[in-house]
Amino acid sequence: MNRLLLDATVRSLRYLETLPHRPVAPSADAVAGLRAFDEPLPERGHDPADTLKLLDEAGSPATIAMAGPRFFGFVIGGTLPVTLAANWLAGAWDQNSALFRSTPSTAYIEQVALRWLLDALHLPAECGGTFVTGATVANLCALAAARHVVLKRAGWNVEADGLFGAPAITVLIGAEAHPSVTKSLGVLGLGRNRVVKIPVDGQGRLITDRIPAISGPTIICTQAGNVNTGAFDDIGAICRRVRGTGAWVHVDGAFGLWAAAAPTRAALAAGMELADSWATDAHKWLNVPYDCGLAFVRDPHALKAAMAITAEYLPTVSEQRNPSDFTPELSRRARGVEVWAALHALGRAGLAELIERNCAQARRFAEKLSGAGYEILNDVVLNQVLVTFGDAEKTKRVIQGIQDEGTCWAGITVWQGRTAMRISVSCWATTDEDVDRSAEAMIRVARSVS
Ligand SMILES: Cc1ncc(COP(=O)(O)O)c(C=O)c1O
Repeated sequence: MNRLLLDATVRSLRYLETLPHRPVAPSADAVAGLRAFDEPLPERGHDPADTLKLLDEAGSPATIAMAGPRFFGFVIGGTLPVTLAANWLAGAWDQNSALFRSTPSTAYIEQVALRWLLDALHLPAECGGTFVTGATVANLCALAAARHVVLKRAGWNVEADGLFGAPAITVLIGAEAHPSVTKSLGVLGLGRNRVVKIPVDGQGRLITDRIPAISGPTIICTQAGNVNTGAFDDIGAICRRVRGTGAWVHVDGAFGLWAAAAPTRAALAAGMELADSWATDAHKWLNVPYDCGLAFVRDPHALKAAMAITAEYLPTVSEQRNPSDFTPELSRRARGVEVWAALHALGRAGLAELIERNCAQARRFAEKLSGAGYEILNDVVLNQVLVTFGDAEKTKRVIQGIQDEGTCWAGITVWQGRTAMRISVSCWATTDEDVDRSAEAMIRVARSVS
């Protein structure tokens, strides 16, 4: 066992050391090499050392350097070394972190991580919370709590009686909400399309004055950080507008919520603490390994009412918080350990520095690209930059060229009808030099595409 695990460590370190130097996208040959895995189910097992060797030799080269400093796709960070180390150790512990009595260590660490998160993000200390797979499921959990509360206020127990015959819920949502929110609404029986879409401005911000008068059970889905522009709805104003109506305000802040931890960005999130629930990802800007999303709900009982189960064989009675009381899953890995490790190693100051640095780097990208004559489509308020290189066809060809060239990687989007490249800066390892190298490569490729 020792030899195998040491071999895995050596291979992992070798992989990580190549990240800053290798092309970000894998070569076509490396992708073709994945065929090495394509064999019939072995009748007899292999030596585990050979299993690891194949994984590394055929698998590693075909990965995209997502953990590296010049991957700017999908608003996902890398992995802080301390969180990878914590992930390895927690993997060795192999704790099924559902209940405090069976896994006290990881349940307790999760509880501390939750308290620190609320502190770092300036959310109400009384919130309950949960560690799930990603912001999609975090949105789902928070909206399940919302559904519970708005129907309870109308005299209906949705967990017991379902939605058949229930009072109707009005769902208000910005026209540029992330599709994971509408998907969550669909899963919860509230309908992906059965929503009232509130118009947005040119940055994707919900126009507060267009929120209709509230009547009956209502959920309002707001956004802290549009996936394209990084723009924030005016969540404080929205909460004040609907105060006293019983409407539930939810915030999807998959990456934007972290702005609250950075002094120069915090104004974007002003008033966000007035909402009822929030969803975010730790595997984005906190730079922990996948999969790690977070939901916070002001009233912990609402989340628990939507999620908790009991069974005779489960040691659910505890003075301490049982993680699974707040999650859709029962068996689950100890995600809180990596979050705790990130916050312990970074501290409040290190977290703020990470967010601020990435935001400054996004502005640096925008300045270099606009200086070279390319149009920036968004106000660069956070870590997102939308750039076009001409018409849709040319922009597509430039993006493909940049991805093939290999210095860096950024993806395509269409923002309010215009095709653009989306640069998301959210990795702990990105240096200003990486930004300069990447911007130069982008400009070089763009100039070469006629
Ligand atoms: C605003 C927003 N909400 C939700 C999500 C979904 O997050 P996940 O992929 O972790 O489920 C994303 C992903 O980028 C996002 O940007």
